[in-house]
Amino acid sequence: MILEIKDLYVSVEDNIILQGVNLTVKGGETHAIMGPNGTGKSTLASICMGHPKYKIESGDILLDGESIINKTVDERSRMGIFLAMQNPTEVPGVTNFDFVKAALQTRMEEGKHLRVGKFILEFEKASENLKMGKGLAHRFLNQGFSGGEKKRNEILQMQLIKPKFAFLDEIDSGLDVDALRIVGENVTNQKSSDLGLVLITHYQRLLDYIVPDYVHIMINGMIVKTGGKDLIEKIDSEGYDWVKTELGITDFDVRKAPVSLGTCPSKSLK
Ligand SMILES: Nc1ncnc2c1ncn2[C@@H]1O[C@H](COP(=O)(O)OP(=O)(O)O)[C@@H](O)[C@H]1O
Ligand SMILES: [Mg+2]
Repeated sequence: MILEIKDLYVSVEDNIILQGVNLTVKGGETHAIMGPNGTGKSTLASICMGHPKYKIESGDILLDGESIINKTVDERSRMGIFLAMQNPTEVPGVTNFDFVKAALQTRMEEGKHLRVGKFILEFEKASENLKMGKGLAHRFLNQGFSGGEKKRNEILQMQLIKPKFAFLDEIDSGLDVDALRIVGENVTNQKSSDLGLVLITHYQRLLDYIVPDYVHIMINGMIVKTGGKDLIEKIDSEGYDWVKTELGITDFDVRKAPVSLGTCPSKSLK
């Protein structure tokens, strides 16, 4: 499987946020995307999942060569894309257990039914792996969950749904050291040649547990630099200013970036 993001320009509320993103993720690969706040990392994850608020101005997203940009969120999900959200939504009225069960049921061939007994055992095993309290299964999805519980719950869903491409958006934020290790180990245990991972993070710590093959730096809605693990330490100790200096990137506020693609400042950088 291969996920290709091609020269993607994305706007939200008439502001261009992504300004020509190119990224290819193959099954088995782990990519980390790092970058200052507000540079479009979550926008990239959201647009790949099909969030209706974001609009593609130009470019394409291909899954195994097929464009997915006109597909709905649920279609993309069934095709194997998964997003662990930076801020998971609370869904009152739907239990955590029923939510994942419905997600799996809808992946089955018509007329086939999920074996509930087996699913219960799998759910319990995943909860145990993530050291989540038993009661969480029957509480409403994310409602009243602590920040850390919400993040673990996203990984629990990933374990059970078994996506082909997963975007994990700041899965480390709000986790204490022990929870970070548990989440990191669980994601690493799920690594396989059938899973392409995109980790969005600010911190080296997560990447100690989930080791990336590639590290990308995103600034001003573009991936401006790609390297290996050595980039992580440098960012951790020196931040992002050196990248800007090295590449001659001038600061501009993406929210004030012109909407017209012809006058997009990033175009001149390429
Ligand atoms: N739904 C939205 N409505 C308006 N502006 C948004 C929305 N989502 C993101 N933005 C803006 O897009 C920019 C990039 O945001 P985001 O992708 O969340 O950045 P990051 O994840 O890198 O911190 C920010 O300036 C943010 O304010
Ligand atoms: Mg974000």
